[in-house]
Amino acid sequence: MRILVIGGAGYIGSHVQKQLLEEGFGVTVFDDLSSGDRVNLLPGADFILGSILDKKALAHAMSGGIDGVVHLAAKKAVGESMEWPEIYAENNICGALNILNAMTACGVRHIVFSSSAAVYGMPRYIPLDEAHPIEPINYYGYTKAAIEENMRWYARLGKIDYAALRYFNAVGYAADKSITGKERNPQNLLPIIMEAATGKREKLSIFGNDYDTPDGTCVRDYVHVSDLARAHTLALKKLATDGESFTVNLGTGKGTSVKEIVDAAEKVIGRKLNYDYAPRRAGDPAILTAKADKARQLLGWEPQYTDIEEIIRTVWNLEQ
Ligand code: UFG
Repeated sequence: MRILVIGGAGYIGSHVQKQLLEEGFGVTVFDDLSSGDRVNLLPGADFILGSILDKKALAHAMSGGIDGVVHLAAKKAVGESMEWPEIYAENNICGALNILNAMTACGVRHIVFSSSAAVYGMPRYIPLDEAHPIEPINYYGYTKAAIEENMRWYARLGKIDYAALRYFNAVGYAADKSITGKERNPQNLLPIIMEAATGKREKLSIFGNDYDTPDGTCVRDYVHVSDLARAHTLALKKLATDGESFTVNLGTGKGTSVKEIVDAAEKVIGRKLNYDYAPRRAGDPAILTAKADKARQLLGWEPQYTDIEEIIRTVWNLEQ
């Protein structure tokens, strides 16, 4: 099978690219390099420089020999999505519709889509299963929910079949250091810790220590990016086998607090980090953890990284 990996030069996309190549899939990366990086294009993958807002480029990319699509090209900064929803509407929603329409026109049936735990909003219960109500509290999460809904319709109308993968907190880097492109202007906890550790940033601020959690800091479900990547190939194989669309959470089920991450990072790095406590960040739920039984049962997916220090080590090793 040859897979068009849209957004394949990005952080998660590059790991998906690697996993596909290792399993013998043909890979064509389609990326506008707005946040992705050329250094993430791996030997063995073809590359098309193009935007998902360019319908002609998409149709051209899908016109010959593409058996499936992995779509990871999206804007993902929650705060930014609340300030400039129009950018998120166009890039995420219109872009995804362009992809679905190009697939329909070119007869490409399978799509694996990067969705997010952000579709759930404030958890009504923990751990979150896939049946939890879809109540996003930010526009970014809404774009993911809207795309899922459109995929559901296109599938219902017989045009495509899809796998919606709802990622929890993606962290880490490939342990063999084959992926070296770092995100520009990172917004997430671990890259920020790395910037604080390497002096690129003066200090880390922990957003809130008065949450109703054991140590007062927020708890998240951190899942290693190589485990996430493996779920994409499993999902593609499943779609190719039975053509049944599905939606699954991808998390470990294990919660780790921000303070625990900082403590683990200090152990891995071998020295103290400069950090302080700052007020809560708007829109942060106290706890977000996944019930990922469905991915286990449906795909046989099992996260191999469960130790947070080991996960952080994959980032620190690369940093050095
Ligand atoms: N945090 C800090 N200081 C920082 C950055 C983050 O204390 O400088 C805290 C946050 O408040 C949060 C935790 O670290 O409690 C994780 O924050 P991230 O920004 O790394 O990740 P989020 O949990 O906010 O969101 C991530 C993705 C979303 C996705 C979500 C799903 O960015 O796209 O995981 O769980 F929807």
